[in-house]
Amino acid sequence: MDFKELLLKRESTRNYIDKKVEREKIIECIEAGRVAPSACNAQPWKFIIVDEDSKVKELSKCIYDPVIGMNKFALQAPAFIIAVREKRNLTSKIGEIVKKKDFTSLDMGMAIENICLYATYIGLGTCIIGWFKEKGIRKILNIPKDKEVDLIISIGYSGDEKPRKKVRKNINDIMGVNEY
Ligand SMILES: Cc1cc2nc3c(=O)[nH]c(=O)nc-3n(C[C@H](O)[C@H](O)[C@H](O)COP(=O)(O)O)c2cc1C
Repeated sequence: MDFKELLLKRESTRNYIDKKVEREKIIECIEAGRVAPSACNAQPWKFIIVDEDSKVKELSKCIYDPVIGMNKFALQAPAFIIAVREKRNLTSKIGEIVKKKDFTSLDMGMAIENICLYATYIGLGTCIIGWFKEKGIRKILNIPKDKEVDLIISIGYSGDEKPRKKVRKNINDIMGVNEY
């Protein structure tokens, strides 16, 4: 697969077949996240693999929101990666304050996209999930109170036949050349 093909193939998978994901493959994905860039090389992340059936089930109940019918697909996801925001280093912290930029969120996004792209590359489907009950997740996984769960990635073998067409803004609407 060439890189452009990979970019187009990566999509949010919300339909998983009933097949366990090999732990080594998930670790490979996290390895892809590990080498992502971050402000001042702070690497302000920790990724928790959840692939034990009972925990996956418990977690999925904190992700599916029956009130608004959001993230029902989580109930069939075979595994999750929980992206926990860790303390950034002093230089990144100073940079954030001086430049009034949320470097940590940007860093997390970079690592998470690396993970999703690599998962696609090795034949797995992922969905980045931002809507979940953080308190419940924290309790199930013993995540300390001072740590924030930024995002969750569901990961598994996709039940979809071929990638959907990308619905995106037109290039001219998102690009400026030599001025805004
Ligand atoms: C920060 C973030 C949070 C997201 N949260 C959810 C979510 O809670 N549930 C969901 O189904 N998709 C979620 N998504 C996936 C987006 O809906 C999806 O990436 C977007 O619609 C583009 O579609 P594609 O990923 O298939 O290309 C999230 C994506 C990002 C980047």
